[in-house]
Amino acid sequence: MYFGGDYNPEQWPEHVWHEDVALMRRARVNLVTLGVFSWSSLQPAPGRWEFGWLDRVVDLLHDNDIQVNLATPTASPPPWFGRRFPDTLTVTADGTRLSHGSRDTYCVSAPAYRAASKELASVLADRYGGHPALAMWHVHNEYGTWCHCDHVAAAFRVWLRARHGDLATLNERWTTAFWSQGYSDWDEILPPRATQWLPNPSQVLDFRRFLSDEMLAHFTEQRDILRPTGRPITTNFAFGSWVPVDHWKWAREADLIAVDDYPTGDLAEESAFAADLARSWAGDKPWILMEQAAAVEYTRERTLPRPPGDLARATLIHIERGSIGAMFFQWRASRGGAEQWHHGMVPHAGPDTRTFREIADLGETLAARAHRSAALTPIKDRAPEIAIIWDDEAWWALQSRSLPSQDLDYLEAVKQPHRLLYRAGHQIAFAHPEHDLSPYRLVIVPSLLPITDAALANLAACRGAVLMSYFSAVTDEHLRVRLGGHLPAFGITIKEHRPLAEPLTLSDGTRASLWSEEIRLEGAEAVITYPDGTPAITRLGKAWYVSTRLADKAYERLLTCLLRPSYYSTGTHGER
Ligand code: GLA
Repeated sequence: MYFGGDYNPEQWPEHVWHEDVALMRRARVNLVTLGVFSWSSLQPAPGRWEFGWLDRVVDLLHDNDIQVNLATPTASPPPWFGRRFPDTLTVTADGTRLSHGSRDTYCVSAPAYRAASKELASVLADRYGGHPALAMWHVHNEYGTWCHCDHVAAAFRVWLRARHGDLATLNERWTTAFWSQGYSDWDEILPPRATQWLPNPSQVLDFRRFLSDEMLAHFTEQRDILRPTGRPITTNFAFGSWVPVDHWKWAREADLIAVDDYPTGDLAEESAFAADLARSWAGDKPWILMEQAAAVEYTRERTLPRPPGDLARATLIHIERGSIGAMFFQWRASRGGAEQWHHGMVPHAGPDTRTFREIADLGETLAARAHRSAALTPIKDRAPEIAIIWDDEAWWALQSRSLPSQDLDYLEAVKQPHRLLYRAGHQIAFAHPEHDLSPYRLVIVPSLLPITDAALANLAACRGAVLMSYFSAVTDEHLRVRLGGHLPAFGITIKEHRPLAEPLTLSDGTRASLWSEEIRLEGAEAVITYPDGTPAITRLGKAWYVSTRLADKAYERLLTCLLRPSYYSTGTHGER
């Protein structure tokens, strides 16, 4: 069981390192992530390398039985790098070339940045790859910088050619006949830069897919350089609507799935949500909670101390779901810099603080648990019987600016059934729409706007019940509408989408909001209706369709009904 956090010794004089390791031992820290933002300390000027400090830190940690998760520092190029290679600095959608001054200011498609990333990985592999303290590699940090420069445009075109083959196909799939966007030459195609009004949604979705693949290529390039060292290789996933990472795809390429979790709502529910996602992305591989806050909680306006006990509570939720460790950002709170108010495991006030005591207690608890591992049955070993479909592409698609309602919220549509099932004590898995869904007795499909033919067939063939919610399966993967609105597996046709301005009351007395649809029954029965008597929730055998956003109570009731053992044993579900 790993316990520790990001360690940034380069921010501190050397005598503090000795206090650090003594405190780490006291807190039972056994792993630290080193070097995430150390590029300028390792290579302070072109061609000048300074490894002495890192050599000493790694040896010091090793002497104290603390292992190292060594990062390649590519997330934050130093000022000299941007000055020397201005074409590696990020360009925003409106054409602004960003300056150095923050972090993550890079262009993942810029040849000079790619070459420097490879050089860093190989220099670190050569120097530390055989060090006994090295437990794993941490490539980059929270991939996610969007760039719109000419390097990106060129790489995007290469990616598009591979995906669509020829321009006629691309024009067709992107519906470029609309608004006179037909392309006659690949070089006319741009990343979705600032434009006059609404952009082409198919182009935007493809760009996000491209960004995910382009960043993944940057990851795998480094991974392959580090591979001969024989240590596991990971990268930490951030979680946010801006993150262009297709997690299912990326999870196939990393040895260890690592997630950063900074809950902003209900601590237990959000921690369980993040942990269930991580566990599902990992599949048979190990996964780890790579970052969490030791002592702060972010609200929109404030950074608050975490209430006593929360730190352990959130951590244990992750551990119970199979995380092989609990890591924090960061070990020691920084004196200065942009994140000086993001507390550390050792706060500014030092170890004689509630935070450090809670950290040390948690270290003790985890060490004791690791010794009695049988006492802890990870959820991984208790196969969940319920799956919720998670699809990054659907999340991206639902962020399009040209939908019938701007209130559609993919994340909330996924979180709602998760939190209701979590509250009811169920184990939940997430699955991709094209995964094998046969292990599940219930598959929930929240607002899955784009869907492939293969995924539609996969859902239709489910052994268990399927519960699909509003605005699902409306387009193909290119965001072209599936004409006719037929959902034969559900025995219905969707005739019209009718976003709701105000909530309404359904026939069972519960409230619904956000969205409604006009449904024609074609074999299904109406289980619950709208105030005008038309179907709101339908059922054909085991295939259920919910055409509106249910209030928690109504959703809970529906889930209870679907999960009642008698529902399956009495055969009341009939045939499809
Ligand atoms: C992220 C980053 C860290 C740090 C923390 C806290 O998860 O990976 O470098 O910025 O957030 O904000």
